[in-house]
Amino acid sequence: MPLVTTTEMFKKAYEGGYAIGAFNVNNMEILQGIAEAAGELKSPIILQVSKGARAYANHTYLVKLVEAALIENDIPIALHLDHGPDFETCKACIDGGFTSVMIDGSHYDFEKNVAVSKEVVEYAHSKGVVVEAELGQLAGVEDDVKVSDADAQYTQPDQVEEFVDRTGVDSLAIAIGTSHGAYKFKPGQKPQLRFDILEEITKRLPNFPIVLHGASSVSQEYVKIIQENGGNLADAIGIPEDMLRQAARSAVCKINIDSDLRLAMTAGIRQVMWNDPSVFDPREYLKVGRANVKTLVTHKIKEVLGSDGKA
Ligand code: G3H
Ligand code: 13P
Ligand code: ZN
Repeated sequence: MPLVTTTEMFKKAYEGGYAIGAFNVNNMEILQGIAEAAGELKSPIILQVSKGARAYANHTYLVKLVEAALIENDIPIALHLDHGPDFETCKACIDGGFTSVMIDGSHYDFEKNVAVSKEVVEYAHSKGVVVEAELGQLAGVEDDVKVSDADAQYTQPDQVEEFVDRTGVDSLAIAIGTSHGAYKFKPGQKPQLRFDILEEITKRLPNFPIVLHGASSVSQEYVKIIQENGGNLADAIGIPEDMLRQAARSAVCKINIDSDLRLAMTAGIRQVMWNDPSVFDPREYLKVGRANVKTLVTHKIKEVLGSDGKA
């Protein structure tokens, strides 16, 4: 099956009360772990690639790896640019085989965000590619953009209709208290998401797919393994999975997961190398990281997103 856009995936997810996992891909083993899990569970997935991933692994290598995943797994797969920083990067991905792009103008003021998002939509739609944009700002770090907790801003519901109308975007990422990375809440702080804001947004944008970034739950199992094997992730804390389940049942159709994959992969590699310092065949530790990624994605699809059997 060729790559698909997210249009059909989101329509079904919205109607069915589940969400599609958008998993970040940076190398072959991460991709294999994700794709094998989704393939076995007959789940649609979004494979997303950031500016940093393109710089690390090279656009062509990533596209060809995703093409291999399509051949190996009979499921709908969308290839998405995560946090596209500008029109040029979005255009390179649209021209280079992606079926979906995010233009992230969330750090601009409203008018500039509208302008840059609209420009990407016009080009993308002329090529049959769909566009995600973002209103509001998450805390955390992605590529070279760093947003402190103090600067993070929830999405203002009274802006969403105008933004979607004027830009023509196909989905909207919102800020309701999630954040990027492995340290989402301070120690002792009660994790909270603003479902009231999500509800307000949904009222203003009926039947419109919403995207949740920064949605890793930071499994304490992997944190423990990393800690016990020479790592330091003290105080890493993520979004509780019951909140993600609640989001998946709502208008949230795409849930972004990257940090959880990194933790799963790193826990496997650390465990092998810490236990046996004589290991020097990369396959010996990467295969354990890859197996962890597969276990994690299986869990997310079945127990959190609810997308199993929806391919
Ligand atoms: O939201 C950001 C993603 O986790 C991508 O991270 O820019 O380090 O590849 P990256
Ligand atoms: P996490 O850091 O919570 O995995 O978020 C990933 C993300 O939003 C990618 O765009
Ligand atoms: Zn993100």
